[in-house]
Amino acid sequence: MRSDQTTKKVASNGADSILVTGGAGFIGSNFVLDWLAADGGPVVNLDKLTYAGNPENLASVAANSKYTFVHGDICDAELVARLLREHRPRAVVHFAAESHVDRSILGPETFLRTNIDGTFTLLRAARGYYDSLAEEEEEEEEEEERKRFRFLHVSTDEVYGTLTPEAPAFHEETPYAPNSPYAASKASSDHLVRAWVHTYGLPAIITNCSNNYGPYQFPEKLIPLMIANALQGKALPVYGDGQQVRDWLYVVDHCRALRTVLERGRVGETYNVGGGNQRSNLEVVTTVCALLDELVPESKFRPHLQLVKYVTDRPGHDRRYAIDARKLERELGWRAQESFETGLRKTVEWYLANAAWVEGVTSGAYQQWVRQNYGGREAGGPGDGVEERPTIAAGEGSR
Ligand code: NAD
Ligand code: DAU
Repeated sequence: MRSDQTTKKVASNGADSILVTGGAGFIGSNFVLDWLAADGGPVVNLDKLTYAGNPENLASVAANSKYTFVHGDICDAELVARLLREHRPRAVVHFAAESHVDRSILGPETFLRTNIDGTFTLLRAARGYYDSLAEEEEEEEEEEERKRFRFLHVSTDEVYGTLTPEAPAFHEETPYAPNSPYAASKASSDHLVRAWVHTYGLPAIITNCSNNYGPYQFPEKLIPLMIANALQGKALPVYGDGQQVRDWLYVVDHCRALRTVLERGRVGETYNVGGGNQRSNLEVVTTVCALLDELVPESKFRPHLQLVKYVTDRPGHDRRYAIDARKLERELGWRAQESFETGLRKTVEWYLANAAWVEGVTSGAYQQWVRQNYGGREAGGPGDGVEERPTIAAGEGSR
């Protein structure tokens, strides 16, 4: 397939359109749906459609005249520059990334390419576009376009490393200490964005968000994997002792936060986004299983919790993440609307109602991934020794 193929041509030129990258993935597709539902203006979605990108996620807006899909790579400098030139978006919202920590451990190359080179390519093109608006500035309209332009870089809390149980949550000044190849590649991209603001005056903003969950999440990530496996009576693989803590945020709340930052966020700033829902993995799996017991009473696998299987831990596994989102709440008035309980119930219900979607994404290459990631893991359990792994002192415990 040609990488610069525009599958639908729509005249989205004008100050109101936005260019989204990675909009066919989990958060990106939720964002596009939310954006169009909120009448946010035309969207151009540039996505390479890797294993994680699925046009089905956006089937409901495929015929919407405000939606344009472009199949292509963010590393394609010519394509990115052309899209900016042609569509003159008021913002770039950059989701495109390789996003799965386990995959980054088994094959870091694509993470460096997409997350670092891809972000660099986008920044370079965005700068060229932004500067071109300066040259045209005599026109009042262009001046307006230049004032409004934003580059919103969607990043992760994993750049901050890991927390001890008592440590305060990550805040915007927490030093970076990424521990996985994924986290390191995202940290690199954040630093590039920062440099483009500082050196070239690109009006960019960074958001660092905690673990998302909700509809359309690929079942390689904890929550959808547990739902999909439990429904089929397959083992629920819990890494190590299952006491690692994540801070869960319902994806639509993340999308709302991004819209808020885009409208009112200060250029050059970083905003942490999180749900204030710290849960151990075992707690999450237990809650998923209880919901399935309730919502699928006829299941022959009840109680689903019996399917839990402790397996060898993820190498370099971060112990705890927690986000302090007070800056976003105080400055921009954002608040998460979904509690973990209501969000998780909605999520389980969505997966139950969308079995065909799960089936579609878990055939073929997915099976190969499952064999590669889980095939070599032995049965493990509480105390399987991961804490003895050496770690660089700047990370854990320094905050
Ligand atoms: P995802 O893996 O579900 O989707 C990534 C999307 O990017 C896919 O549609 C894929 O096809 C596309 N893509 C990958 N490489 C590309 C390339 N070279 N060119 C164009 N498109 C490409 O990811 P997600 O979970 O939706 O995460 C989106 C963003 O949010 C990422 O930047 C991630 O780091 C960040 N983030 C994710 C979470 C989370 O919990 N999932 C939390 C915080 C931040
Ligand atoms: O914190 C934000 C990050 O959250 C995002 O930047 C990443 O893109 C996203 O993938 C997510 O990273 P995690 O590694 O935290 O998510 P994952 O769903 O892979 O794992 C969540 C926790 O569950 C983690 O401690 C590992 C554990 N786990 C995961 C899988 C897939 C298991 O115990 N068993 C599993 O099979």
